[in-house]
Amino acid sequence: MATFLLIVLLAILFGDVGYGLQINITVLDNATTQGAVCLDGSPPAYYFDKGFDTGLSNWIIFLDGGGWCESISDCKNRSITEKGSSKNMKNQSQFAGILHNTPQQNPDFYNWNRVWVNYSDGSSFTGDVEHVDPENKLYFRGARLFKAVMDDLWRKGMQYAKNVISAY
Ligand SMILES: *[C@@H]1O[C@H](CO)[C@@H](O)[C@H](O)[C@H]1NC(C)=O
Ligand SMILES: *[C@@H]1O[C@H](CO)[C@@H](O)[C@H](O)[C@H]1NC(C)=O
Ligand SMILES: *[C@@H]1O[C@H](CO)[C@@H](O)[C@H](O)[C@H]1NC(C)=O
Ligand SMILES: *[C@@H]1O[C@H](CO)[C@@H](O)[C@H](O)[C@H]1NC(C)=O
Ligand SMILES: *[C@@H]1O[C@H](CO)[C@@H](O)[C@H](O)[C@H]1NC(C)=O
Repeated sequence: MATFLLIVLLAILFGDVGYGLQINITVLDNATTQGAVCLDGSPPAYYFDKGFDTGLSNWIIFLDGGGWCESISDCKNRSITEKGSSKNMKNQSQFAGILHNTPQQNPDFYNWNRVWVNYSDGSSFTGDVEHVDPENKLYFRGARLFKAVMDDLWRKGMQYAKNVISAY
């Protein structure tokens, strides 16, 4: 009985609660040719788990947040963190809540295509500045980064989507 309870407890802790779902990073190396880059010039990146069954043509896209950097010094500091560079992002991310793939944890979207787009441009995916800060090699290209990620998801099936929800 005690063993059984322990197994149930472990299953709750490590199964349903969602510690298990690890999703590999997708790095868009080619996007750099269109100048779509993070603050430090590294390529855009996101995490994607494909939908299934009735969720195949539905997409939920989570845009990562984190405020703006507001000066060169501030942006420079950010550019060496995971909020300014894909070089510092983890190879795998844990998907939980509205990104999980079980109806227990995510009743509404578990079988949708689920995407986490990391935030690494310092201005909420808005920048489109050709000029590169010469001294610090900083890039302000959030809008291009957003477009490059959406284009890639488009090719991966979003063009056939019936529903797309963006969460922020
Ligand atoms: C995720 O990456 C690991 C390590 O590179 C690899 O072994 C695994 O097959 C990948 N998983 C998927 C679903 O691509
Ligand atoms: C990236 O660019 C290279 C060279 O142009 C090309 O061979 C490759 O297919 C591209 N990869 C993707 C994922 O588009
Ligand atoms: C950036 O980091 C440097 C070194 O740690 C620090 O002196 C400076 O105050 C930081 N700049 C901002 C705007 O936080
Ligand atoms: C990138 O996304 C993963 C997804 O869960 C997260 O663990 C990591 O902290 C994110 N990086 C940033 C910049 O927030
Ligand atoms: C992440 O993946 C890259 C490229 O596949 C690899 O060089 C690096 O060692 C990996 N890092 C970790 C922490 O697994």
